[in-house]
Amino acid sequence: MTIPLFKNKRILLGVTGSIAAYKAADLASKLTQAGAEVDVILTDSAERFVTPLTFQSVTGRPVHRDLWGSDAHVVHVGLSHGAQLFAIAPATANTLAKMAHGLADNLLTVSALAAPCPLLIAPAMDGGMFDHPATQANLKTLQARGAIIVGPAEGRMASGLSGKGRMVEPAELLGHIRLLLARGGPFTGRKIVVTAGGTQEAIDPVRFISNHSSGKQGFALAQAALDRGAQVTLIAGPNTLPVPAGASVVNVRSAAEMAEAVLAACADADVLIMAAAVADFRPETQAGQKIKRGGLEGYSLPLAKTVDILMAVAEQKERTGKPAVVAGFAAETQNVIDNAREKVIKKKLSLIVANDVSAKDSGFFVDTNRVTIVDAGGGAATLPLMSKAEVAEAVCERVERLLAG
Ligand code: PMT
Repeated sequence: MTIPLFKNKRILLGVTGSIAAYKAADLASKLTQAGAEVDVILTDSAERFVTPLTFQSVTGRPVHRDLWGSDAHVVHVGLSHGAQLFAIAPATANTLAKMAHGLADNLLTVSALAAPCPLLIAPAMDGGMFDHPATQANLKTLQARGAIIVGPAEGRMASGLSGKGRMVEPAELLGHIRLLLARGGPFTGRKIVVTAGGTQEAIDPVRFISNHSSGKQGFALAQAALDRGAQVTLIAGPNTLPVPAGASVVNVRSAAEMAEAVLAACADADVLIMAAAVADFRPETQAGQKIKRGGLEGYSLPLAKTVDILMAVAEQKERTGKPAVVAGFAAETQNVIDNAREKVIKKKLSLIVANDVSAKDSGFFVDTNRVTIVDAGGGAATLPLMSKAEVAEAVCERVERLLAG
């Protein structure tokens, strides 16, 4: 799937001689699928683990191998100057040492010296090599010069030993690359709060009332805001999704917990996007012990209303003026636009995104959504079936326009 952030972006991917080099092929493929032009530089040692053909096949571009073999006269300068980012993944202890000391004895290290763009390094090596004071000092040197070091992760390594030395997985590296590419984007300096997922309202210590929200739409919104350079607080109900790199996550369970987290985060936020499916009601009281099957005769479950978080945000905004932009979501099964128009006024919103949650390919849990964006004046724009990531882009575009006044 292409990602707008990667449009017209050229990424240099340096691969060094570690067993994790095979994972670099997956990273090159993910970057290419996202829409980036990926130029791969392999060291001689990397070629002992993976072939140039592998990378050529996944990127559709020639692979660069040695300093003087190419047609280009000063290939290293051309490669590094046209790139928006240089990622070295995996980076061995040997290559880290060379770069820390400014050595330039192969195309990769020459290009690293010549590169004016941000440098991301994903180390991969045996745990003992990583812990060695020489490697640690080299990493500190590179970090002090502005390199972003991602990982290594802990786990089982090729030696069979466990420890800290595994290259961070390509999907996670992709998130860190997004963060770097997003620097200076239109939301730079903006604090954006996004809510995601459903809340759980406890009946007793083992049971609760909830809904089918997976958090996918909210997480996609958090990622889209991060891709524009925002500082994102993601307040999420229980979910199983990977956290977007760079988001600070507040995990909550009940509507009351979500309300507390949202009001605190909104105190100095520019934007709130409320995609969470907050329970509208909860059991009036929570049983202290598990309710026994045998004790159910005549049992009833009185319900109480939960706090309306968006209404509480509107009250707080009257005092603080924050957040400047508040976007709600509306889960509807009928009269989608009319109901959304009512909610946008009642909850004093800048806009509301109404989704038809009765359609099979829209709303809860699925990866796609059908939405109509209704603005504060009641104007409505119905979008075609889209992925939740595309919906998130469309919502962030509108938020961007509202922030610009
Ligand atoms: O998580 P997914 O599986 O990806 O599904 C996405 C989604 C369908 C949950 C999402 O797109 C969505 O529609 N979220 C809002 C669901 C909802 O609660 O709609 P509502 O019409 O009941 O509420 C309107 C707005 O008020 C929402 O922004 C809601 O967050 C907010 N609300 C609701 C109840 C409450 N007590 N406090 C609130 O602030």
